[in-house]
Amino acid sequence: MRIGILISGRGSNMIAIADAVASGQIPESEVAVVISNKKDVPGVTRAMEMGLPVIVIEHEGRPREEHDKEIADALDAHDVGMVCLAGYMRILSPYFVQRFPNKIVNIHPSLLPSFPGINAVQQAIEYGVKVTGCTVHFVDEELDHGPIIEQVAVPVLVDDDPDSLSERILEAEHDAYVSALAKICSMRVEMTGRVVKVL
Ligand code: GRF
Repeated sequence: MRIGILISGRGSNMIAIADAVASGQIPESEVAVVISNKKDVPGVTRAMEMGLPVIVIEHEGRPREEHDKEIADALDAHDVGMVCLAGYMRILSPYFVQRFPNKIVNIHPSLLPSFPGINAVQQAIEYGVKVTGCTVHFVDEELDHGPIIEQVAVPVLVDDDPDSLSERILEAEHDAYVSALAKICSMRVEMTGRVVKVL
């Protein structure tokens, strides 16, 4: 499986995926390309240090679909079979989603369908939930909505603030993302409607 990873910032999920590909924890796979919509971000530096092919495709001042098309073309040029969103902070156009049906995977820092959208961790604290977590899901045309592949629960502690809780969720994210991709790459995932079954 040739994996394309889209990032916008820190890139810790990208690193977790690339490390797991290198160690064989995600089998039969390679990171074909890392694409960032921002140039001066730690994820780009880190991907270059790791020897991964990196492309920056900036979005400022461009229509969404035109930017998405350039990214989709770059993914195709690298013969990518699966697209992993790893802290990619752009909403994808329906055009992009339709070009890679059931081939785009995202990680979100809440137990979906609770708290979709931005500031998911803050939303969870303000709501007062006692358990939150992270969700790895296939991407459809609705935001943070597609079929769920993997979820990990993380308790909310009494004195948690968004930073402390995000930090613990992030650790869970790395494990959840690697585990979900390992299942997909070993062809153990089957989908009926929006229900994903792991065989
Ligand atoms: C993660 O919390 C992810 O769930 C969210 O954005 C953050 C990205 O972190 N979509 P990183 O760039 O992978 O370190």
